[in-house]
Amino acid sequence: MKKLVVYSSAGGNTKKLAEELFKQLGDDKEIASVNDAPAPAGYDVVCVGFWLKGGKPDPAAQEYLKKCSGKIFLFATHGAAADSNHAKMGVNKAEELAANATVIGRFSCQGEVPAKVMETAAGKDPQPPWLADAPAAKGHPNGSDFMNLSEVLISAGLTTEAPDSHKGPVVDGSHAM
Ligand SMILES: Cc1cc2nc3c(=O)[nH]c(=O)nc-3n(C[C@H](O)[C@H](O)[C@H](O)COP(=O)(O)O)c2cc1C
Repeated sequence: MKKLVVYSSAGGNTKKLAEELFKQLGDDKEIASVNDAPAPAGYDVVCVGFWLKGGKPDPAAQEYLKKCSGKIFLFATHGAAADSNHAKMGVNKAEELAANATVIGRFSCQGEVPAKVMETAAGKDPQPPWLADAPAAKGHPNGSDFMNLSEVLISAGLTTEAPDSHKGPVVDGSHAM
């Protein structure tokens, strides 16, 4: 199964998530920034990563999503809490944009919001709905996000087991059957 990971990232959070996703995928894979990504046709699955801007996938990712047909896996980072309505709606927007594609899975988590961005957002009236959650995004995506990601990838059939670094303690060989 030929897989392509395409990500759009202004500040590095989505790139970090994309690189972890790439690491967790099985063989036969490529990764590219959306700015120099190959066309989605020709791959069995394309994993498209974006960050939320104004409640929607960022503009560069929007363009790429519109070109997708076939199977896609969506992933995203955002300032809003992972289980928030805002985040869900944002990823729903990506599904709408990729109207010709079949979504085989989706994963999103918080991505650290720089202090300056929070400051600017705080000065807006009304303040954006994700701002209240943004301080808690510090340090994300992190190891626990990566563990959650691996579960979603398993469900989507894109990997069979969690990566070594996320497994529990190694069992002493003397206890093995
Ligand atoms: C201009 C701007 C707009 C943003 N709009 C949203 C938004 O609508 N919803 C949200 O949850 N987070 C929003 N964020 C936070 C980013 O989505 C979040 O920090 C993300 O992880 C950035 O990803 P990146 O580092 O890959 O660029 C915004 C950030 C910026 C700079």
